[in-house]
Amino acid sequence: MRKTIIAGNWKMYKTITEAIELANGLKRELFELDLQRIEAVLCPPYTALSEVSEVITDSTIQLGAQDVFWLDEGAFTGEVSPKMLKDCGCGFVIIGHSERRQYFAETNDTVNKKIKAALKHGLTPIVCVGETLAEREGGKTFSVLEDHVRNGLKEIDGEDFAKIVVAYEPVWAIGTGKTATPAQAQEAHKYIRETLSAMFGADLAQGCRIQYGGSVKPENTRELMIQPDVDGALVGGASLSVQSFAAIVRTAAEVKK
Ligand code: 13P
Repeated sequence: MRKTIIAGNWKMYKTITEAIELANGLKRELFELDLQRIEAVLCPPYTALSEVSEVITDSTIQLGAQDVFWLDEGAFTGEVSPKMLKDCGCGFVIIGHSERRQYFAETNDTVNKKIKAALKHGLTPIVCVGETLAEREGGKTFSVLEDHVRNGLKEIDGEDFAKIVVAYEPVWAIGTGKTATPAQAQEAHKYIRETLSAMFGADLAQGCRIQYGGSVKPENTRELMIQPDVDGALVGGASLSVQSFAAIVRTAAEVKK
């Protein structure tokens, strides 16, 4: 059985004070999280990682970052290394988010380097893949997913692959209020799992958790999580309030498969 994993990607929102308040609220709401059923991860901006880490240190909530560089240290102005993220208390890191691919020239090659660096330092990568609206409308969804998965995860061995979480985030559903239908999500997740199976074998592919991301809200969580190949959510906007993120986590924990 794959344990459901819900992550909140706070993107470029929340000052340190606001981040502490949100993390405290979530700690109160989610204190009885059943770790047998669910994992919850908060991904604040870099500036708030240490403070959020302190807030959640005595809870079951975990910490992640939104990006990482692939080297340990050096003259790379503005970058943050995996070692530094570990130092802040991170266990997870989002890699290859479509906003990074779109606005910051992230490619499958840089994604691949970042995944390897994260794994080397014991960080769990949450690897984002997904097609744009033009690609979907042009009938290219599966080929884009195959490209992101095969090239993003190239030259990674089975042992390392077993630690990776994949997030399917159709770009057209991010921040638009337009969620993929449960059937669209399931179809894409199944295709991703089949691609992983061809790369790493059926057993490892069956064990891999694939999150859905794109306008996830408390109201649509159940219908998405109930899909056989949907193992969690990567939540943007709705992760910025205690009530909505806590409701998503609780709803996901109730879904039995
Ligand atoms: P929204 O939930 O705001 O659509 O964002 C999804 C996302 O990009 C999570 O990484």
